[in-house]
Amino acid sequence: MSPDSLPLGLIVGTGYEHLGALEVVHREVVPTPWGEASSPIVTVRIEGRTFVLLARHGFGHTLLPHLVNYRANVWALAHVGARRLVALASVGSLDPALPPGTLAIPDQIIDYTHARPATFHEEVAGLEAHVDFTEPYDASLRAALLAAAGREGLAVGTRGVYGVTQGPRLETAAEIARLRRDGCTLVGMTGMPEAVLARELGLAYATCAMIVNWAAGVTPAPIHEGIAAHLGRATSEAVRLIRAFVRSEGG
Ligand code: HPA
Repeated sequence: MSPDSLPLGLIVGTGYEHLGALEVVHREVVPTPWGEASSPIVTVRIEGRTFVLLARHGFGHTLLPHLVNYRANVWALAHVGARRLVALASVGSLDPALPPGTLAIPDQIIDYTHARPATFHEEVAGLEAHVDFTEPYDASLRAALLAAAGREGLAVGTRGVYGVTQGPRLETAAEIARLRRDGCTLVGMTGMPEAVLARELGLAYATCAMIVNWAAGVTPAPIHEGIAAHLGRATSEAVRLIRAFVRSEGG
């Protein structure tokens, strides 16, 4: 199998129900050494292609970002055979070129989370515990997502530095100013440790960021109003992207 046709897993966040008519082929609660995953692993067909799907916050959205069992989720997806993961994540934007209602495929991460179990390595080991994370996202998966966006005519940010905050509260204006000085262009709460756990298991991983608001202090408008106004559009754009991406898949 070429790397581009390895079994695909989709991690969905807020708005998964908009993926439309999903033909559910199989549903399996996968026990893991790391405890319970957020949801059963659901084998679905979209556009005639089969892949596995996990709801990061649970079906019914019951788990906040800091309480998600990222280790169990990534392990369960790998256990059922996924070798590439596309993660949907809603984010705020710090970058005028990445307005709410659009998508971005970030290429870098800065991790501001704390106290989240963030590794599968728990014993002193050799170098393998120190995974190379210079490029946190898989280049060919990112390219495939961007190509799908291009075919679909979607406005998509081709890069982005995703600052991952602890949540569940939103940031202060000063925190966002600091993130901007650090070089972040996007801010969300779920990108880590998901990305590094995928790397530890050797899975290709990329994020499709759904931009749903301007980050704190970027505009005077209340953030919740922004989210309410833009979530629907960003979600439907992400659904179009995923469907276009899946159409180009083998399997
Ligand atoms: N900050 C953090 N996480 C988010 C935001 C935000 O502004 N919007 C959506 N997820």
